[in-house]
Amino acid sequence: MRTINLFINRVCVARCIIAAMWTRRRFIFKVFVLTISLLICLAIFLSKFVYPVPKPSDTEISRYQERNITLNSSSKGTPILLWWSSIYSTIVDDVKTFGSVQCRVTNNRTLRNNPDTKVFIFYGSHFEPYDLPLPRHKNHLWALIHEESPRNVYILNHENTITLFNFTSTFQRRSNYPITTQWLKCPDWLWETTFMISLEEKNRLRNTEGLAPILYVHSDCHTPSDRDSFVTMLQKYIRVDSYGVCLNNKKLPENLRFRGSMLAMESDEFLKFVGRYKFSIAIENAVCDDYITEKLWRPLRVGSVPIVFGSPSVRDFLPSNHSAILVQDFRSVAELALYVEYLDTHDEKYDMYLRFKKRKIRNNFLQDILQKRDWHASKDCKTSRTKHNSFIFGFEEFVCREMHELERYASQAGSKIGKKIASLLHYSCPEPKRFDKLGRYTVRDKEWLQEWTDARYEAIVMWNLYSNNRTVQPDVFVQMVKSEKEKNTKIFTN
Ligand SMILES: *[C@@H]1O[C@H](CO)[C@@H](O)[C@H](O)[C@H]1NC(C)=O
Ligand SMILES: *[C@@H]1O[C@H](CO)[C@@H](O)[C@H](O)[C@H]1NC(C)=O
Ligand SMILES: *[C@@H]1O[C@H](CO)[C@@H](O)[C@H](O)[C@H]1NC(C)=O
Ligand SMILES: *[C@@H]1O[C@H](CO)[C@@H](O)[C@H](O)[C@H]1NC(C)=O
Ligand SMILES: *[C@@H]1O[C@H](CO)[C@@H](O)[C@H](O)[C@H]1NC(C)=O
Ligand SMILES: *[C@@H]1O[C@H](CO)[C@@H](O)[C@H](O)[C@H]1NC(C)=O
Repeated sequence: MRTINLFINRVCVARCIIAAMWTRRRFIFKVFVLTISLLICLAIFLSKFVYPVPKPSDTEISRYQERNITLNSSSKGTPILLWWSSIYSTIVDDVKTFGSVQCRVTNNRTLRNNPDTKVFIFYGSHFEPYDLPLPRHKNHLWALIHEESPRNVYILNHENTITLFNFTSTFQRRSNYPITTQWLKCPDWLWETTFMISLEEKNRLRNTEGLAPILYVHSDCHTPSDRDSFVTMLQKYIRVDSYGVCLNNKKLPENLRFRGSMLAMESDEFLKFVGRYKFSIAIENAVCDDYITEKLWRPLRVGSVPIVFGSPSVRDFLPSNHSAILVQDFRSVAELALYVEYLDTHDEKYDMYLRFKKRKIRNNFLQDILQKRDWHASKDCKTSRTKHNSFIFGFEEFVCREMHELERYASQAGSKIGKKIASLLHYSCPEPKRFDKLGRYTVRDKEWLQEWTDARYEAIVMWNLYSNNRTVQPDVFVQMVKSEKEKNTKIFTN
């Protein structure tokens, strides 16, 4: 539900429509898809009002917004960071001091032509390729922050788009201000034992309460990572208790029922509930290097061994080299099931997967990242205080400092400074696939692939508009993308 809710957050309606209009299938199917999409969007949209989706930094942002704007005449000359596609829901305008530098941070778009405006910041999920701040002054820096997988903003996954930006903050480690560990809000979760249940008790639950060895809780069933297919195959070999909407076979206890909010999944009760399971499925919604979410951290936190599929390089971020079971290490789903069964019946082997709980983090790379990041550490964290309570504010500081640095260099006669231009290393994902019959993620998937490649045409049209200093209405953009696609398809088939 959370992911679906975020989905609507990400200009879902527009995208549902765009996607439906592009399919070259029959008319009835189009209408069907459109109606269903709209109904779902509407339902989720309404549910948002009842149970607002908490973003990592929601409370901090609203607290920030409550503050009175402190602008006065002395803010003239302070460089402006203008949120062009904003993460803030109301107007903000505030002078922020970061050590020896200052920036005026605002999302008041009327300031776009102000000579002090130096940086435009874009929140990826709200990025509108047809409405960019053009023409772009040659000194205008553009910065992108996008914490989600490209699943909903595939256009960013193209060179034309990503190279518009000078600075990035994404889940990928090579971005300028990486937020790969964003969902691990407190480093101490890794060695926390509050929600752990002893192996004796887990065995008792297995034997007398009929708990399956593996837990699955998902309500977002249709994903580019094709996780439901995988779990369906796994179920042929080993029992999986599934409590979410997807592949549901068990009812959640009353007190844990989700109400369209991820709060329920963050509650102590839910964590204890997960801790009762020996293993948890931890499959991300997209397969993308460094894309790691609470799906991995939650089971690690509560001592339920995660069965992981998502970032191919996830090993780099695990607390120890023996703390998770990686789907990619097995030749087939059957083999994986056999191994899980083996651990289920060999206590001392199973226990080895939880040793990291006692020995703290055994991964210098991860430890280093957690120590150096200057954001997060919510107030419930036992250890570590950070400078910013959200990576959003951390990125504002980062960009402000970089901008000042560039200005300083520019003012020094004869100084040469390399260009700051983002690349696909900052943000990219391979094409989505499906699992084959053995459980290997190798089959080209027509449907997601369609969306993935269609974004290429969006990127081309966006680039043409950008080069011509043009902005258009969304519906015009959709039309332009459609004809771009037709043009290319024709060349292809002729
Ligand atoms: C903002 O200003 C208004 C009016 O001047 C005042 O009533 C209110 O308490 C102020 N809010 C904060 C958070 O300072
Ligand atoms: C104007 O803003 C600056 C910070 O930008 C602050 O130091 C100064 O006290 C403010 N002056 C007034 C009169 O509010
Ligand atoms: C935005 O800035 C303009 C000045 O550039 C100002 O007149 C306007 O009131 C501001 N809007 C808001 C909502 O603060
Ligand atoms: C895991 O790490 C330990 C040391 O922490 C090392 O002795 C062992 O060889 C590693 N195992 C693998 C499979 O890399
Ligand atoms: C910022 O990016 C734009 C677009 O790629 C580029 O033209 C410009 O030179 C970059 N600015 C700097 C300072 O590197
Ligand atoms: C777009 O605007 C820039 C900056 O004003 C200008 O240098 C460039 O020639 C314009 N391009 C076109 C195609 O009008």
